Amino acid sequence: MLFYLLLVFQANANAQIDPAHCRYPLGMEDGRIQDHAITASSQWYETTGPQYARLNREEGDGAWCPAGLLQPSDTQYLQVDLGQLTFLTVVGTQGRYARNSGKEFARMYRLNYSHDGQLWRSWKNRLGNKTMEANDNAYVSVIKDLHPPIISRYVRLIPVTKMPTTVCMRLELYGCPWHDGLTSYSSPEGQLMMPPGYPIASLNDSTYDGAHERRKLSGGLGQLTDGVIGQDDFLVTRQYHVWPGYDYVGWRNGSLGSGYVEMEFVFDKQRNFTSMKVHSNNMFYRGVKIFSSVSCSFKPRLIATWEAEPVEFRTVLDDRNPSARYVTVPLGRRNAKALRCRFHFADVWMMFSEISFQSADTVIPTQITPVVTSPWPMEESSMPTTHKTVTNPSAKDQPDDGNTPILIGCLVTIILLLVVIIFLILWCQYVCKVLEKAPRRILEEEVTVRLSSSSDTIILQTPPVPPRVSQMDHPYERVFLLDPQYQDPAGLRNKLPELSRSAETSACGGGYAEPDVTQCTPHQCFQSSVPHYAETDIVSLQGVTGSNMYAVPALTVDSLTRKDISVAEFPRHRLLFREKLGEGQFGEVHLCEAEGLPEFLGEGAPLPDRDGRPVLVAVKQLRADATNNARNDFLKEIKIMSRLNDPNIIQLLCVCVSSDPLCMVTEYMDNGDLNMFLSQREMESTLTHANNIPAVSLSDLLHMSVQISSGMRYLASLNFVHRDLATRNCLLDRRLTIKIADFGMSRNLYSSDYYRIQGRAVLPIRWMAWESILLGKFTTASDVWAFGVTLWEIFTLCKEQPYSLLSDEQVIENTGEFFRNQGRQIFLFAPLLCPPSLFELMMRCWDRDIADRPTFEGLYQALRPHVVQ
Ligand code: ADE
Repeated sequence: MLFYLLLVFQANANAQIDPAHCRYPLGMEDGRIQDHAITASSQWYETTGPQYARLNREEGDGAWCPAGLLQPSDTQYLQVDLGQLTFLTVVGTQGRYARNSGKEFARMYRLNYSHDGQLWRSWKNRLGNKTMEANDNAYVSVIKDLHPPIISRYVRLIPVTKMPTTVCMRLELYGCPWHDGLTSYSSPEGQLMMPPGYPIASLNDSTYDGAHERRKLSGGLGQLTDGVIGQDDFLVTRQYHVWPGYDYVGWRNGSLGSGYVEMEFVFDKQRNFTSMKVHSNNMFYRGVKIFSSVSCSFKPRLIATWEAEPVEFRTVLDDRNPSARYVTVPLGRRNAKALRCRFHFADVWMMFSEISFQSADTVIPTQITPVVTSPWPMEESSMPTTHKTVTNPSAKDQPDDGNTPILIGCLVTIILLLVVIIFLILWCQYVCKVLEKAPRRILEEEVTVRLSSSSDTIILQTPPVPPRVSQMDHPYERVFLLDPQYQDPAGLRNKLPELSRSAETSACGGGYAEPDVTQCTPHQCFQSSVPHYAETDIVSLQGVTGSNMYAVPALTVDSLTRKDISVAEFPRHRLLFREKLGEGQFGEVHLCEAEGLPEFLGEGAPLPDRDGRPVLVAVKQLRADATNNARNDFLKEIKIMSRLNDPNIIQLLCVCVSSDPLCMVTEYMDNGDLNMFLSQREMESTLTHANNIPAVSLSDLLHMSVQISSGMRYLASLNFVHRDLATRNCLLDRRLTIKIADFGMSRNLYSSDYYRIQGRAVLPIRWMAWESILLGKFTTASDVWAFGVTLWEIFTLCKEQPYSLLSDEQVIENTGEFFRNQGRQIFLFAPLLCPPSLFELMMRCWDRDIADRPTFEGLYQALRPHVVQ
């Protein structure tokens, strides 16, 4: 039993990577990458050695500088050993500032990388360019996303110059550990789809970094491991400026001389394989289908023969649902260093966009390994599959590498650890009991959340934070409750023991301004802390991933240049204060008169009719003493808002950012927020007329719902994830036009709607989808969930908070039930005023299966006909 537990614990230590979440600083700045791991081809002085190449640090003479003038032909480099295979997604560079005495920086750089420190490869972007733009001053950090990401242990940063010059650099690398351990795959080259009968699509592996000879790719990694999942329609791509079919690697049946595609996978070490996930297209009406079966052989060492008994797996083909999908192939806990899989065609074309492996890097002799077939769905899109056979090699087939004593030592250590964990769990349960007596005492204190069912208990306990971080230091920060890598509910179920562990460490270094590394070991922090995101362009980041937009590294008005903000600077002296509309974590919102704004904005400005009256605007002003983080968030909000333009989204009119305090000027919505508006009203009836109580009709409520769905439809079309849709974030004007806002101000007024952890995370848990709470996964589908809750608020006239009978802890406990889906989850009740068909629509927004939730377009189309014109 214990071994079984161990296996489950270890074997599911990984799920496929999600580049949107894999953006953790790897430790140049905070010292987790130690000096000895940072080397260089040369250095100018001792005091500009490689160990001083740490972003935002000023030790030594403030940066690494290669010796002499850098020449255009030079390949001077700074090398970082990350200690393990790492999925690198972002690089941040800075010049030498040295408290205003340095001025050297690099305008461009290249990157080389290596798995083993021997064979080096050059990074290229998706269009084949090797050079990255870098700094144009000595102090601002420039953060660049790597498209494609790099999988490697060693990285070399090579400054590039057009003219001889002195350069100095500081660096941070961002990413996460590459648990797959895959170091290369080989396959037949991807092919070109051509008419007749088919559209044109180039299905090659365009970022493959290995050898390409005689129509075969070998020794490298490429698009199948870049974390980019293809769309249902293979012609539609997630990248810009690329060709149709870009996201997939595909092959035509019959072109390879066999009815299958053979791929080999080589790993960093011998591993114990649980499963392989293959993201596959299934556009059957274009002749593309997932594979009909796959057979995988294993070998324990590179120089060895393939073991006799392959694992075979047969899928159930699906001619009804053309969605691309992950097919999970159980690998029977076989030990291997290399795998060879033959994927059999089910139709004319077979296309993959991603392949990942779930394995433990501890090889456990197979005789103690029970044959485990996964009880979880084999495909995330719910297509049924069957196993044909999952065979296990017998003990005598296993490599005896003489490691038995080490193995026993490891197992004993693990058993001891488990005993400690069990003790901790029992202790936590005791603490929970004490806390349950004071159920709502949670906000400012230590948080203990139990997700319990008859069989499992998850304890998420934030560790004590000795130096208390005041909330104003983290005014707008949100953290993931759990390790964001767990994107896969099936994997998550098996990961339950680990969830508690990662939650325990989720407070590690949680403040991106002040990473509190004292709270966790470097290893823990590396693994699961959520210190901050690095990103350059929040809008494009969202465009690609539809994902998180909150925590960012220092962003200054300099790094966020005026070109990023596409609205004009308005002279601040022409904003005449009228009254205070609200107060929040950033500062205050004022109602102001904007003198000469129509002339300033020119023809066609989105201003309401004035009828000769002064133009009123809402001015959100950042507190003068705001922290850098608040400032970053404020500037980002401006940047995002300046690119949004929709009748149901609040319009940014202009800004005052050339001097402090920073201000953003938006249209003024004279009916305030929807929550306040509805909570002060009753449904229209003769009684309300008689008593002069302000009233709304069912048709008003439907009209509001349609408008919100329309605004959200617009955001979704930009792949923009709002993450905090609720009536409190919808504003109304006098004609009852609704515009979606959010942007932090409501948090003081409605603070009980948000769940705080250690004063750091502020989460609207009652509006959040289960996967956002448990997995930290925010997508348009989780916005749809929040839309369902917003509809519920509207039809209860905001008289009640969602799940008002549940404490915050119970809401999270209920989220566990949503996830387990054993019929014990509590749904919001049907509001009295709500037509049954509308409640059904809400329920669909809360579908446990993310893919089964409606789209905003669908919601809009479903709601619109009900509005009386
Ligand atoms: N409160 C915050 N923003 C507002 C706006 N744009 N109009 C009215 N009240 C607000």
